[in-house]
Amino acid sequence: MPDVSAMPVAIITGSGQGIGLGIAQALAHANHRIVLTDREPDRLVSAQKTLDLPPEQVIALPLEVSDAASWASAIAEVERHFGGLNLLVNSAGISPRGTAESTDEALWYQTLDVNLKGPWLGIKTCLPLLKKSRGAIVNIGTTRATRPMPGLFSYICSKAGLLGLTQQVAVEYISQGVTCNMVAPGWVDTPGERILQAKHGRPDFPNGVRNLTTSEEIGEAVVFFTTSVGRKITGQMLYVDSGMHVADDAGMIYLPENARGRYHDPEVAQRDQ
Ligand SMILES: NC(=O)c1ccc[n+]([C@@H]2O[C@H](COP(=O)([O-])OP(=O)(O)OC[C@H]3O[C@@H](n4cnc5c(N)ncnc54)[C@H](O)[C@@H]3O)[C@@H](O)[C@H]2O)c1
Repeated sequence: MPDVSAMPVAIITGSGQGIGLGIAQALAHANHRIVLTDREPDRLVSAQKTLDLPPEQVIALPLEVSDAASWASAIAEVERHFGGLNLLVNSAGISPRGTAESTDEALWYQTLDVNLKGPWLGIKTCLPLLKKSRGAIVNIGTTRATRPMPGLFSYICSKAGLLGLTQQVAVEYISQGVTCNMVAPGWVDTPGERILQAKHGRPDFPNGVRNLTTSEEIGEAVVFFTTSVGRKITGQMLYVDSGMHVADDAGMIYLPENARGRYHDPEVAQRDQ
């Protein structure tokens, strides 16, 4: 068993479930001390059970990412408990539907507050500790930030903004040894995504969808940015999306039975030609 007190410390937002929890699992596996955070305290309890780590390797803190005071008290607690911080992962996010016309100002601000202001406040609050440790920041974006889809107006705007934020922070802190990158998932089966899909007419999701990425795989991509080669990379976006950014839905979308898998199943591809 490695010395827990020597392990780097990682804080992950939205790690009560879904991708954030998968990231926490992968980082724990890669010998990090873990700070679980979420705005839903019940999720933190079950996430801590899922991780099943020794108490000296994990703490769980309530955190509303769009609130500066919430960040300040969480990071004060991280410093008090673990004495420093090596990695910030901004994963908390919402993905409401709406077009440029149907989106109202309230939805616009809600999405931008969580998905864009949240990571900025997190970075701003964590930077004093990250500069000391010459640490890393990883933002969770989406492949849709560069390949938009109708009906995701405020979401796309927020995540495209997050890409700009990632590059800007990378440039501003490069001389201080802090790296800032983005992981861009494609389609991931998470509790949040299941609710969303059911709401929008796909109650059997993820049935019929191919090449889904798992939350743990997104976690492995985050771990990459903590490795020696990963620490040589900054201002980059790493797509982990089964090819959606080059081939649109890359055969993943919920298609009629006879059209499913046309990109990845050679037999179906030949039949459909
Ligand atoms: N699931 C996908 O297919 C997919 C694809 C691309 C990108 N993403 C991105 O991955 C991230 C996680 O998505 P997910 O599918 O795991 O979602 P999810 O809804 O399953 O989990 C998100 C977690 O974040 C927490 N959260 C939400 N708003 C918060 C806030 N304001 N403050 C603190 N915590 C908050 C929620 O309580 C929840 O536990 C998001 O940024 C999302 O945009 C997801």
